[in-house]
Amino acid sequence: MIGIIGAMRIEVDRILERIEGPVKRVESGIEYISGRLMGVDVVASKCGIGKVNAAACAQTMALIFKPELILNTGVAGSLSPELGVGDIAVGTDVVQHDVDTTALGDPPGMVSTVNLIHFPLDRDAREAILRAAEALPGIRAVPARIASGDQFVAASARKKEIVRLFDARACEMEAGAVAQICHLNGIRCAVLRAISDGGDEGAHLTYAEFLPLAAKNSAELALEFMARMSGA
Ligand code: ADE
Repeated sequence: MIGIIGAMRIEVDRILERIEGPVKRVESGIEYISGRLMGVDVVASKCGIGKVNAAACAQTMALIFKPELILNTGVAGSLSPELGVGDIAVGTDVVQHDVDTTALGDPPGMVSTVNLIHFPLDRDAREAILRAAEALPGIRAVPARIASGDQFVAASARKKEIVRLFDARACEMEAGAVAQICHLNGIRCAVLRAISDGGDEGAHLTYAEFLPLAAKNSAELALEFMARMSGA
C-alpha cells in the first residue's frame, strides 16, 4: 500500500480520478480514498494546507492503512534560480524552517523531542521519481532540499533567510510534517513539488497564474512514478 498526500484539491484531483474501485473513509474531517492506481494499492488524501493538517492526515494514514511509503505531492515556491515555474523539486530531505527554539540554544529548525533538523526522504523512491521524470516530455525534475513552514513565502528577505539557514531550494507548507510523521512511524517518505512561484514579492501573482500548470506537472509525475512501481 502506497499513501499519497496533497494539500489542495487541484493537487490531488488528477490522482483521485484515476483510482479504481475507490472506497471513501472519513476520519477527523479528512477523506481517505483507497483503491488501485496504475495497478498499485493506494490510499490518497487531500489533507488541507499547513503542517498540522498534513500531520493529522499522515498519522491517520499510518495507523489505519499502514502504507509502506507515503508520497507527498503538489506545488512549491522556488528558492533557487535553478528551479523555474513548472520544474519539479524531488526532495532529498526536508527541513521545517519555521521551527525556532534558538533562544534556548538550539540550532535553527531543530525539532525538539525528535531532535532532528533534516528529515530524511527515501533514496530509492527519489531515484525512481527522477527516472520517471525523464520519460515525461517537457518536465524537468531535480533533487532538492525542501523547506516547510506554516507560511506562504512571499518576500525576498524571508526567502534569502531560509536559503542562508537551511540551503533549501523549494518552500512549501506540508512536507516537513509528512516526513516527521513517516520518521516516527518507520514509513518511507518521498516528496515531489512542482514550482508555482518564486517565493518573492510577486509570488501571489505568479502563484495565481501558474498553480494549474504546477499542479498538473506534479500529478503527472506522481502518476508516472506509480505506473512504474507496478511495472505497468
Ligand atoms: N506553495 C507554493 N508556493 C509557495 C510559497 N511561496 N510558500 C509556501 N508554500 C508554497
